[in-house]
Amino acid sequence: MKPIPSLVFTLCLLLCTFGQKHRYLIEECVSKGYTQNSCQKVFCQGWQRCVQGSCLCKLPYQCPKNGSLVCSNDGNTFRTYCQLKSFECQRKLSRFAHRGSCSIQKMFQVVLEPESATSEGTVQVKLNPSQKTYICGEGWGIHEANVVCRERGFPEGADFIESVDAENLTLPLHCLQAECRGTETSLAECAASQLNQNNGKVAKVVCHTQHEECSSQEFRCVNRKCIPLHKTCDGINDCGDLSDEVCCRACRTGSFHCKSDVCIAEKYLCNNERDCLTGEDEHSKLCEKRPKTEPGEPSLRSREEASKSHTEATEEEGYAKPSMDEERKRIKTLFTQPYCGIANHTVTRRKRILGGNNAEKHEFPWQVAIKGERERISCGGVYIGGCWLLTAAHCVRASRVHIYKVYTGMLNSIEMNNASRTLRFNLKRVIVHEKYNPKTYENDIALLEMAPNHMGKCYTDDAVPVCIPWSKYMFKGGEQCKVSGWGYDEELTRQYALKWGYIYLMENCSAIYKNRYFEGMECAGTHDGSVDSCKGDSGGPMVCLDSNNVAYVWGIVSWGENCGVKGYPGVYTKVANYFEWIARYTGMSLIARYNQ
Ligand code: ARG
Repeated sequence: MKPIPSLVFTLCLLLCTFGQKHRYLIEECVSKGYTQNSCQKVFCQGWQRCVQGSCLCKLPYQCPKNGSLVCSNDGNTFRTYCQLKSFECQRKLSRFAHRGSCSIQKMFQVVLEPESATSEGTVQVKLNPSQKTYICGEGWGIHEANVVCRERGFPEGADFIESVDAENLTLPLHCLQAECRGTETSLAECAASQLNQNNGKVAKVVCHTQHEECSSQEFRCVNRKCIPLHKTCDGINDCGDLSDEVCCRACRTGSFHCKSDVCIAEKYLCNNERDCLTGEDEHSKLCEKRPKTEPGEPSLRSREEASKSHTEATEEEGYAKPSMDEERKRIKTLFTQPYCGIANHTVTRRKRILGGNNAEKHEFPWQVAIKGERERISCGGVYIGGCWLLTAAHCVRASRVHIYKVYTGMLNSIEMNNASRTLRFNLKRVIVHEKYNPKTYENDIALLEMAPNHMGKCYTDDAVPVCIPWSKYMFKGGEQCKVSGWGYDEELTRQYALKWGYIYLMENCSAIYKNRYFEGMECAGTHDGSVDSCKGDSGGPMVCLDSNNVAYVWGIVSWGENCGVKGYPGVYTKVANYFEWIARYTGMSLIARYNQ
């Protein structure tokens, strides 16, 4: 009888582990090695910018000018925190020491006790050359421990944390409670405040030094640390490089699931900082329901805020140091965002593209019509700012640049004949994607540069550029998006009014279109085929909205199996795949809404 329970146990160990891993983690995403520096998944820091999917260091001069002086641990004064962080980002050497210039003598330096062990010990902070203070066991978590280890020269952070009794200690029993965001590189960047009613526990840490095999109960972080599987997808950055939180099909209690499959700790919801790519963590509906601060215990944050005016408080009031978190947030808000994706129409009247509604003025202010040789609209297009439009490659030929006319701000194609010169534009340049394949419709995307009109402008006043998605994780299967155009309707008759309809993104498209479906394509439609784009809509936009109703051109109408055929959705060029290509020609500043 003995082997049976152990067999059951072993079986469960295998299956339960397997189940747990696959319930939360998405394996094929994990294999891509995403971290906090993957701007496909998360926003870069203010001192970084997103280049080909990775957050790279900005140069100090690319930081916003305003801010106040800060001092680095190697004794250099920087004009702003951003400049110091960008310098650190590149050289990895100098770290934040304190606010103000280095001429002010301030200290906040981590030491591990006993000093003989170097990579582990109780955590203490030197506030001046002769005074050391413990970090409290209370509030001691993996975020703080990772920061301490990083500061001590262990870039992967901590392996193990503990709260230990402070007995046999020679120092007086008050300690500093630290609170970090988890991405800081020195404890001086975190909030700290003196705690007197301490339970006698102080912080202890073992920093990560050796890479070992991870067990079946563990997750291998991208930085090669092993963490327990049950600590993945919980909104806590155990790995220290965020790799345990960015490939989650679901999130554990206490954390919030972004559409991009990233888990965000609940305390970062509704804090006026966008963490999810499309902003659902700051969405008004979610935030109405949720009170901004928890009632009861004043948080470290509010204590920190209260003590901001007198950073170095007197002995009786206790020591309190604000974190650099507000400054980190502020830097992000200082970059000028291009204005895009905002349609300022008010009502959406449902009227009875294929199965669509008639568009109203200002509802699709980025939609343009393209006319070729003939007297009718041949294709749609979408305005992306400056003098630039996107359309389908199959709509245009670079050699015929002078025959095309572009109409903006137009609702009815009948207006075309008496369109004023301000509505109509010639083209200066047609850039067809270098890898466009007219046989397969692979890379069916083109950029059009408009020629300024007689008034020196290349857009009408009511034209609004659409935003360009920078990540393929912004929208996914099942989401509702809008497609618009002057193409054929269900009777396959030509339309004069701009129409639009709701369609849904679909994920299983290679199963439908088999070898006709390629990377860089995206399917969308309705389950019954009642709404679809059709002939004449090509090159026009399919837009998806973020949580603030900002429109992103997720797709460009490309092809389909006839129109509106049940089971055969429309196929769109997936614009996020071409972000770098678009940026190369138009310039990054034009199109990057975040992550610049
Ligand atoms: N290729 C077509 C055009 O040139 C667009 C077809 C879209 N078809 C579809 N079923 N969604 O206008």
